[in-house]
Amino acid sequence: MRKRILFTGGSGKAGRHVIPYLLDKGYQVLNIDQVPLEHPGVHNLVADITDSGQMFNAMQSYAGFGELETGEGMQTFDAVVHFAAVPRILLKPDNETFRVNAIGTYNVIEAATKMGIGKIIVASSETTYGVCFADGIANPNALPVSEEHETDPIDSYALSKVVNEKTARAFHKRTGADIYCLRIGNVIEPHEYAENFPSYFEDPAQRRRNIFCYIDARDLGQIVDLCIQKDGLGFEVFNAGNDDNSANIPARELAETYFPGVPVADDLGEFEALYSNRKIREVLGFVQAHNWSKYVSQ
Ligand SMILES: NC(=O)c1ccc[n+]([C@@H]2O[C@H](COP(=O)([O-])OP(=O)(O)OC[C@H]3O[C@@H](n4cnc5c(N)ncnc54)[C@H](O)[C@@H]3O)[C@@H](O)[C@H]2O)c1
Repeated sequence: MRKRILFTGGSGKAGRHVIPYLLDKGYQVLNIDQVPLEHPGVHNLVADITDSGQMFNAMQSYAGFGELETGEGMQTFDAVVHFAAVPRILLKPDNETFRVNAIGTYNVIEAATKMGIGKIIVASSETTYGVCFADGIANPNALPVSEEHETDPIDSYALSKVVNEKTARAFHKRTGADIYCLRIGNVIEPHEYAENFPSYFEDPAQRRRNIFCYIDARDLGQIVDLCIQKDGLGFEVFNAGNDDNSANIPARELAETYFPGVPVADDLGEFEALYSNRKIREVLGFVQAHNWSKYVSQ
């Protein structure tokens, strides 16, 4: 039987590419969002993650009309992928960003684990490292930035993501569920290579706050799929970025120019990402398929 995935926030920038990737891999997907995703094969429940009752209810549901045919009743999902959020600062007042993200994530993880779902993948963020939405210039402690780097941000969005990682860890410890948090880098949709990368190359400084990270939305689909497949890791955080930087100069030069004085690892590859993705490559087996050099000439 096809694995059944409950996906929150699938109508957004990242989800509308990740869901088609999962459908292509043969999963059945139910999207929970405040706006439906119009995509063949996807069924939508319009629901609010800040409402705990709606989240408990959705965890055991038909994923589409086809499931009525089995006569087996409503089934619990095999995995939850939780992307719904206010996705940065300066969209809503800070307290509302924090409320939706922290309470919404608590509700989704609590409902999933208490309904017996053993695999949850949560969208965290590169911003947890405190560089992205710093007031003034903040440097990482060391480069490349790995999952070992401290998370000590000052803004409400990144703070909500740090809280969400603690929430995930607590529910893993309480229930034993596998909960993997993806510290997602700046998501790039296919059309954005031509639109944005020439200007990134002209003025790399604009990518400094992202630690020069980008993640192709389809490669993010691959990472989510690998997380669904990989059982037994318990609670984990993973940086989710591509292998290289959103700049066309060597990594060490990039580091020395834009993060002067920050220690750089001796083994940094010539064009290796300053936002390290070694862990997803080594633990999950990620192999990038959509690096920028396939779509933009230097
Ligand atoms: N886009 C990026 O570069 C980026 C980077 C790092 C992390 N992330 C994280 O990845 C996830 C997806 O980001 P995105 O760029 O696709 O964001 P997005 O805003 O495009 O999509 C988020 C979706 O969540 C839905 N949503 C918001 N509040 C909701 C609620 N209360 N109940 C139900 N649905 C709700 C929205 O309708 C939207 O479709 C988010 O958790 C975001 O914080 C994104």
